[in-house]
Amino acid sequence: MRIAAILLAAGSGQRFAASSPGGAAPPKQFTLLGGEPVIRHAARALAPHVDLIQPVGTHPGVADALAGLNCLPPVAGGAERQDSVRAGLEALNALPDGQSPDVVLVHDGARPFVPAELTKAVIAALSSHPGAIPAVRVADTLKRVEHGVIAQTVPREALWRAQTPQGFHFNLLRDLHRTHQGPVTDDAALLEAAGQTVAVVEGSDDNIKLTHPEDLVRLERLLGHTPL
Ligand code: C5P
Repeated sequence: MRIAAILLAAGSGQRFAASSPGGAAPPKQFTLLGGEPVIRHAARALAPHVDLIQPVGTHPGVADALAGLNCLPPVAGGAERQDSVRAGLEALNALPDGQSPDVVLVHDGARPFVPAELTKAVIAALSSHPGAIPAVRVADTLKRVEHGVIAQTVPREALWRAQTPQGFHFNLLRDLHRTHQGPVTDDAALLEAAGQTVAVVEGSDDNIKLTHPEDLVRLERLLGHTPL
C-alpha cells in the first residue's frame, strides 16, 4: 500500500498573527519551536509512516523550513483549507504512473507533535474503513450561548474534537473534493456527506494545533523548552 501525506501550509494564520505582539507574525506554521519551524516538526513526525509528503503552500518559508527532508516540491494552496487540500490531491494524482498513492493522510502543518502511535492507528483503520480520523473526547461542559447568556447545556457524551492526520482512500477523497460544493472545516466531513463510514481512533492532547500564542507555551513545554 502506497501512502502519501498532504502537509498543509497555505494558511495565513490570521488568528495567531492578530493575537501576537504587533500583529505581524509570520504564518503560524513557520513559528520557531526549539529553533525549528513548526512545519518541519510536523513533516518529521509523519515521514517514518509515509512514502511521500506533498507540502501545500508557496510561502517563501516553506522550502527552507523543509530543506533536507524528503518532500515533493510544494504546490500552491487556495483561499480556504479545502482548496489547499484539493491542490495537494491533484498534485499527487498527476504523479507519473504508479506513483499516485493508495491512501492519503491530510495533516495540518500547524500540528507539530502528532504521536507515532496515533498516525499508525489511523493508517491501520484504513484497512477496514474508507476514512479514519483521530479525535479526543470533549472534557468540558458545553453551553450554547446566545446574546451573552446560556441558551442550552449541550449533552457532551457523544462529542469528540477532531484532529489530524486524517486518512482516506486516495481515489475516494480526490473524487469527493472534485464534486463537493460548500464549506467544510475538515476532510472527514466530505465522507460523512457522501454516506461513507469514517472510523475514529483515540487522538492525543499532545497533538496541539498552533492557533493562539498560548498554544506555543504548551508546545514549548512538550519540547522541554519552557519559556519563563
Ligand atoms: O486555519 P486552520 O487552523 O484551520 O488551518 C489548519 C491548517 O490548514 C494549517 O496548517 C494551515 O496552514 C492550513 N491551511 C491551508 N490553506 C488555507 C487555510 C489553512 O493550507 N487556505
